[in-house]
Amino acid sequence: MCGIIAYLGEKPAYPILMKGLYRLEYRGYDSAGIAILNKELTVIKTRGKVSELEHFINGKNLHGTIGIAHTRWATHGEPNDVNAHPHYSQSKNLAIIHNGIIENYGTLRKELIHRGYEFRSNTDTETLIHLIEDIQIKEGVELVEAVRIALNQVIGAYAIVIISKNDPDMLIAARKSSPLVVGIGEGEFFLASDATPLIEHTKDVVYLEDEELAIIRRGHELKIKTIKNKEKTPYIQKMELNLSALEKGGYEHFMLKEIFEQPRSIKDSMRGRLNVKKGTVKLGGITEYEQKLVNARRVIMVACGTSWHAALVGEYIFEDLARIPVEVEYASEFRYRHPILNEDDVVIAISQSGETADTMAAIELARDKGATIIGICNVVGSSIARATDAGSYTHAGPEIGVASTKAFTAQITILLLMALTIAEKKGTISRLRYQEILTELEQIPEKVTETLKVNDQVKFIANLYKDSRNALYLGRGYNFPVALEGALKLKEISYIHAEGYPAAEMKHGPIALIDEEMPVIFIATNKGTYEKVLINIEEVKTRKAKIIAIVTEHDERVAELADHVIEIPETEEMLVPLLATIPLQLLSYHIATMRGCNVDQPRNLAKSVTVE
Ligand code: AGP
Repeated sequence: MCGIIAYLGEKPAYPILMKGLYRLEYRGYDSAGIAILNKELTVIKTRGKVSELEHFINGKNLHGTIGIAHTRWATHGEPNDVNAHPHYSQSKNLAIIHNGIIENYGTLRKELIHRGYEFRSNTDTETLIHLIEDIQIKEGVELVEAVRIALNQVIGAYAIVIISKNDPDMLIAARKSSPLVVGIGEGEFFLASDATPLIEHTKDVVYLEDEELAIIRRGHELKIKTIKNKEKTPYIQKMELNLSALEKGGYEHFMLKEIFEQPRSIKDSMRGRLNVKKGTVKLGGITEYEQKLVNARRVIMVACGTSWHAALVGEYIFEDLARIPVEVEYASEFRYRHPILNEDDVVIAISQSGETADTMAAIELARDKGATIIGICNVVGSSIARATDAGSYTHAGPEIGVASTKAFTAQITILLLMALTIAEKKGTISRLRYQEILTELEQIPEKVTETLKVNDQVKFIANLYKDSRNALYLGRGYNFPVALEGALKLKEISYIHAEGYPAAEMKHGPIALIDEEMPVIFIATNKGTYEKVLINIEEVKTRKAKIIAIVTEHDERVAELADHVIEIPETEEMLVPLLATIPLQLLSYHIATMRGCNVDQPRNLAKSVTVE
């Protein structure tokens, strides 16, 4: 997704902006640009990586204490130098950077061309800056007012920052549906798409709300007003993140670091919430809504991608423990499906970034229909976290790698704690069983540490299969979503086509794909339908596929059938996904690195998909 960074203060803007762009790379992008004001408003932008922009700028005179910079993930207009941001206005007195989509840009563009405006790019963003300048000239108003009027004509999502050659002491920002954070320092201000580029500068942040404008003036307090011209008091929050969370800590990639962080991230998601000695689970963020969950006629989980896989695990957990009917919906489908919802329904929205547009839209739809909405997010202060009635943060720490790993296991942990809370209140679980699960859950971080020891074995296996053209992941029950997640990981970072399937379903079609060229990865742990999975493995073996199996430690039966077995510690069936997913994360990571893929920033992907 696009990344925004802007600065106004007393220091040279260029190094701050470039470092900020590097911090935002993880969001995924295909071009980058910068604008710095020092009497002249200089815009330099190029297709490609931030390092290429830096190389291109090398030596050019980019001094000044005010500037904006942007990494673009193309939506309208192909990724090239011209479509990269920032975009000048017609007069070149203004420049804009933007994250989002102006849905009615076609109409606006036609009108502006009719009025003599010439477009340099094919972007919706350039339409906006021309519209702002047109209003400023036509209405004879100040730039802030022109921006406010223009945004009332815009349909769509935006996070924008505007810089003006005629006002070197001001930046104007605004947001709707796309995130934007203001950092407040000593005599300096920062703007960014998320908190990561701000951490080394300030802990004081203001998360802009939808349809809010921020007016930043050198030497003045931050001013905020709505696009309907209503003054707002800035709500300054303290950021909890620290710088080390943004470094690779000696790992080659953020993804590998985050895979190995899971003992701690799972522990952090339980910290202060699980107390085995007292036999209690306390999710403070949903206390007021526990009864709503207990009385829920139905729980609907909405999410995308990996978070949707976590929701599938959650479905099994909630139905097993709390005996509540659960439906899991792709947010992108749910939002257009005219779903039947009412006040007795509880919607649980799961999102690592808390900015996924489809999930956000699903929440808005559910709210319009009167449902209660609970959020499970990883990014504090994110849009989804602020849009829900209540919720729990996963506290997995910043997840920089585009491929989600520690967020997935943290989401499952929160879903377990939520289901245990409800089950205990509803009496759908005996005290003994409740205590058993709590005790085992507390052991999981150590069991993840144990599981991570398979890394070298997985790396060896990865080398055997790195040139595969396809792969099939099969699991049943709690391990079916794990199969889907394993396939997604392989797809998104190694670009090998992979499919996850319920193991039994494979007979109804995919078995036609099986031959000696097709590696089949089974999650074949010893609980649930283990005996049935053994039969499925036989079916695949007779068709000469190579079989990699994730098994419970000391399993011998699968070892007789599979080409490779990767052992994970024994645990409760509903906790197996927290362990079984680890070798699959490692398998995809090693295959991708062996294939020379950009593991942390896979092609075409964004960390947070804040557009439809
Ligand atoms: C997961 O590896 C992908 N990067 C992607 O599917 C992601 O899970 C999806 O875009 C949802 O993101 P969210 O959890 O931030 O809402």
